[in-house]
Amino acid sequence: MKYYFLLIGTFCFMGFCQGQHATYKLKQDFINKQLDDAIDQIKILAQNTPEDLMPRTFEGDTLVTSKTNWWTSGFYPGTLVYLYEYSGDKKLLQLAQDKFKILEKEKYNKNTHDVGFMLYCSYGNALRITKDTMAYKDILLTGARSLITRYSPDVQAIRSWGGMKRNNPDVKATSSGGGWNYPVIIDNMMNLEFLLEVSKLGNDPVFWDIAVTHANTTMKNHFRPDYSCYHLVDYNPKDGSVIAKKTVQGAYDESAWARGQAWALYGFTMMYRETRDKKYLDFAKKIADFVLNHPNMPEDQVPYWDFDAPGLPDGSELANYKFNRDASTAAILASALIELSSFTKDTEQSLYISKAEKMLQSLSKEPYKAVTGTNGGFILKYSAGHLPKHSEVDVPLTYADYYYVEALMRYRNLLLAGN
Ligand code: GLY
Repeated sequence: MKYYFLLIGTFCFMGFCQGQHATYKLKQDFINKQLDDAIDQIKILAQNTPEDLMPRTFEGDTLVTSKTNWWTSGFYPGTLVYLYEYSGDKKLLQLAQDKFKILEKEKYNKNTHDVGFMLYCSYGNALRITKDTMAYKDILLTGARSLITRYSPDVQAIRSWGGMKRNNPDVKATSSGGGWNYPVIIDNMMNLEFLLEVSKLGNDPVFWDIAVTHANTTMKNHFRPDYSCYHLVDYNPKDGSVIAKKTVQGAYDESAWARGQAWALYGFTMMYRETRDKKYLDFAKKIADFVLNHPNMPEDQVPYWDFDAPGLPDGSELANYKFNRDASTAAILASALIELSSFTKDTEQSLYISKAEKMLQSLSKEPYKAVTGTNGGFILKYSAGHLPKHSEVDVPLTYADYYYVEALMRYRNLLLAGN
């Protein structure tokens, strides 16, 4: 008996020394149920969406659509591809491919940094899953070439908005919304994955170098000492000096716009996955610390649209809208935290995975998850697109659905790997 206890004690000690893996609380059945429900919903959305347009949101019982040059055009086909990956249902792949026909022209789009969102979430995922390089490689390479026309070696960053010809160092930024010289927004971190993958695909280091340089410039200029980030940094295109740090979609310049923090966490976690440069991992952890420890993070872990929105935490000044939450932020954070957890151990790993689990649990029920057959076929409700402009508030959005499904798939992969 004495030896039996000694043996158990030894195993426990070995486990402790090697570092414990996190315990995953969500069960396979729970994850599969959410993905099955997502398929039911997206098939409804497909029926509602005109052939030549992309779904964008659903407001007042009406589907709102966009042309393919709107920044969100890659998310709906990307979600279809993820759900095809999960189910093997060829109808879902076919629906995505139908949309690829109208999306392809965006590979020539040099007017926005968002071609990463547009082309990588859609064609990038399709290539990853189908391995059909004949169908997708050239589209991705052409799109990445378009994106890097927006890179300036003087600024060491990719310009987010406005044409490159509009660079004008004599114009000074006036106020949020206009007069930018060379605007770079934190969202741009999300387009770097596209460049890094295309660099490998095309065996061309130019894309890689631009992505790494952009990430380093962002690290240097976009963050405050507490590791929260500004939405927009305006640069002098002549010498790359910083002219102004502003917000457009957040509450005020010094506030922490929630989705911006989520883009940052996701972006730097992805930079670590791709480069294995530890400085990105350390940075991602600091961003996670800021977000997860913020006093205004709600109990259900679905953030308000801005961590510093006036009236928080009691919400008294937020009465204009029903929730003032941003489900899209929770979905992006959940996906990023699941990935971050896979690069960490012990208490850090447990913290990141447990917060991601809470986000997924919250998003997977009322008020956030739509009852099948409602919500125009979108999966989630209550995201905030651009609250200061009163645009797309308390509504479904394609990117909330995309990152929610991605987070479910990432979690499912952890369970399947038996970690
Ligand atoms: N990239 C725009 C947004 O996050 O709303």
